[in-house]
Parts: sequence; C-alpha cells; structure tokens
Amino acid sequence: ASEEKVVKGKVGEKVGLPCGYEIPSSESLLNYRVYWQKKNTTTEVAHAHSEGKEVNSSKSERYRNRTEMDARNLTLWISPVEILDNGSYQCIVQNRRTSRDTIVVSEKTVTLFVTADFSMPNITTDANGNFCETTEMVVRCSSHGGFPKPQISGTLNNKSAVWNDSWVSKSDLNLYNITAKLWLSVTKDINFTCSVEYNGFAKSTSLLLKKIEDCDIATELPPYNVITASSIIIIIFLLAVTLAARYLPRHGKCSFLFKKQ
Ligand SMILES: *[C@@H]1O[C@H](CO)[C@@H](O)[C@H](O)[C@H]1NC(C)=O
Ligand SMILES: *[C@@H]1O[C@H](CO)[C@@H](O)[C@H](O)[C@H]1NC(C)=O
Ligand SMILES: *[C@@H]1O[C@H](CO)[C@@H](O)[C@H](O)[C@H]1NC(C)=O
Ligand SMILES: *[C@@H]1O[C@H](CO)[C@@H](O)[C@H](O)[C@H]1NC(C)=O
Ligand SMILES: *[C@@H]1O[C@H](CO)[C@@H](O)[C@H](O)[C@H]1NC(C)=O
Ligand SMILES: *[C@@H]1O[C@H](CO)[C@@H](O)[C@H](O)[C@H]1NC(C)=O
Ligand SMILES: *[C@@H]1O[C@H](CO)[C@@H](O)[C@H](O)[C@H]1NC(C)=O
Ligand SMILES: *[C@@H]1O[C@H](CO)[C@@H](O)[C@H](O)[C@H]1NC(C)=O
Repeated sequence: ASEEKVVKGKVGEKVGLPCGYEIPSSESLLNYRVYWQKKNTTTEVAHAHSEGKEVNSSKSERYRNRTEMDARNLTLWISPVEILDNGSYQCIVQNRRTSRDTIVVSEKTVTLFVTADFSMPNITTDANGNFCETTEMVVRCSSHGGFPKPQISGTLNNKSAVWNDSWVSKSDLNLYNITAKLWLSVTKDINFTCSVEYNGFAKSTSLLLKKIEDCDIATELPPYNVITASSIIIIIFLLAVTLAARYLPRHGKCSFLFKKQ
C-alpha cells in the first residue's frame, strides 16, 4: 500500500520510470528477474530482465528498441515516448534465492502521464460588419497537435469570455486539435487572450482587437458634401454676378443693335 508514483513525459522525449527498488551493492543483477509491465485491460510487457540479460521474447512489439533499464536502481527509460505509453506500469522484482526458490522482493506501480505540446494558439479575426459605435467581428482561436484533450479559455481585458462555439478533433496519432469561436461587438480596443490548457500545462497568445475607425469618414461625409455644395453654389453665384456685371452693359448695346437691325 505504498503511494503511487506519477511521472510526466512528453511525446518524442525520454522518460525514466523509477522502480522504487535498488539492487543491494553486495548483490548482482544476475540473481534477479525484473518485469516492467503496463497494466490495462491486457498486460503488456515493456521490459523484462533475467539472469543479467534483457529478455526480448515476452516483450511487447511496441516497446522494442525503445527501452533501457538501469542495472542498479532498475529505472525504466523509454525513448521516444509515445501517446500509447500513457498509463500505469508495474515494476516487479524477483530474487532467485536458490535454483528452485524465487521470491518477489518488490512490486510497485508508477503512473506515466504522457503529454504532447500544443502549438501556440493562433488567433484570427474577421470583421463581420462595421457600424458607427461597434465593429462586429468573429474571433477564432486554434491550437493543434497536443495531448491529452485540452481546455480552451478566452479573456477580454482580463474578464473571462464565453465561447459561442468550440470543437476538438483527434488525429490518427491520437493528437488533438482544438478551435473555438467568439462573436464580438467591439466598441473600443480590447486585449484578447486565448489559452489552451492540458494536464497542468498552458499555452496562451494575446492579440489587441482594434475597433475599425472608418466611422469618422462616414459621419463627416455629409458636412463635406454640404461645404462642397455651398462652395460650388457660392462660386457659381459670384461668377454669375461677375458675368452679369460685365454682360449687362453690353446687353444694352446688343439689344440696341438688334433693335437697329
Ligand atoms: C537511477 O540511476 C540513474 C543513473 O544511472 C539516475 O539518473 C536516476 O535518477 C536514478 N533513479 C532513481 C529513482 O534513483
Ligand atoms: C529494432 O532495431 C533493430 C536494429 O536496429 C531493427 O532491425 C528492428 O527492426 C527494430 N525493431 C523495431 C520494432 O523497431
Ligand atoms: C493516461 O493514463 C492515466 C493513468 O492510467 C489515465 O488516468 C488517463 O485517463 C490517461 N489519459 C488518457 C487521455 O488516456
Ligand atoms: C493562423 O491561422 C491562419 C488561418 O487559418 C493561417 O493562415 C496562419 O498561417 C496561421 N498562423 C500560424 C502561425 O499558424
Ligand atoms: C488581470 O488579473 C490579474 C489577476 O486576476 C491581475 O493580477 C492583473 O493585474 C489584471 N490585469 C489587468 C490589466 O487588469
Ligand atoms: C454568442 O454568444 C453570446 C453570449 O453567449 C450571445 O449573446 C450571442 O448571441 C452569440 N452569438 C452567436 C452568433 O451565436
Ligand atoms: C490538426 O491540425 C493540423 C495542423 O493545422 C492539421 O494538419 C491536421 O489535419 C488537423 N487534424 C485534425 C484531425 O483535424
Ligand atoms: C494583454 O493581456 C495579457 C495577459 O493579461 C498580457 O500579457 C499582455 O501584455 C496584454 N497585451 C496588451 C497589448 O495589453
């Protein structure tokens, strides 16, 4: 009834599972048998050692060429770690007293939690529409290639956001992708942070969501038109007055000439 040991390992890296038993320095591994097995619905042998040699015959194919065992403290080294390695392992140590008498001197369990790092979340935005007071946008946050199944959270200026939609997909290699969407009405610039959390690890990205400032042009267009229109009217009026001033005296002459003809 010893406490269970927990080890975390990352996909592709090397991890050491402690056996919790050390061969006394006075003794040789030759007199021991060591079994490292993974207990699931079935039992898979990850590593077996007998009479000073590794025993490959009983070893599961998945672990072939990926394990090594320390000859003194019996730590099992797995490299590279795979998702399927996640689970509980038993380290069973037997001591051969005589050719006929073998006793179990240690039987301990260690749990391996496998994780794979998610990519840094990628935030993208799409403006849906722009009105004077607000910019309607869809904010998307996604991250891929991690394990185990993650949680995704978002904050808007430090206040937690409620996603409108989110989904998780799993690849053949058991790795997860996650995407979440948020529909927002942005009335002023907001600092948006998206975090992906998995097995105690977290990755986050921040982005400043900017309100689109083309409202000014929209509201200032009418005054511009009024100014332009009035300027044109004033110019035409002034032109008319100038022309009239020059034309009127001649008009008198012309009408006089016409009359004469
Ligand atoms: C076992 O020995 C190896 C070196 O051979 C060491 O790196 C490791 O930390 C040891 N593990 C334990 C549980 O003592
Ligand atoms: C283990 O390594 C040997 C020699 O390097 C190779 O022939 C064999 O195919 C490998 N087995 C697995 C399961 O990768
Ligand atoms: C990984 O193994 C642990 C220990 O057996 C188990 O609790 C956990 O559910 C496993 N995780 C996944 C995602 O299978
Ligand atoms: C983020 O997502 C967009 C759209 O899906 C893509 O074009 C871009 O390359 C991604 N950026 C990174 C760093 O993954
Ligand atoms: C955000 O919240 C954290 C703790 O919840 C606080 O330490 C930090 O000062 C806050 N930042 C801002 C900009 O409000
Ligand atoms: C998104 O969620 C918010 C708050 O939960 C809700 O008010 C809004 O109607 C949702 N928008 C869409 C397009 O589903
Ligand atoms: C997960 O994301 C990666 C990178 O964007 C992509 O290549 C892969 O097809 C995605 N897998 C699934 C199951 O959606
Ligand atoms: C946004 O918020 C995050 C986390 O609160 C902080 O690390 C980051 O510096 C902020 N970015 C800006 C542009 O304010």
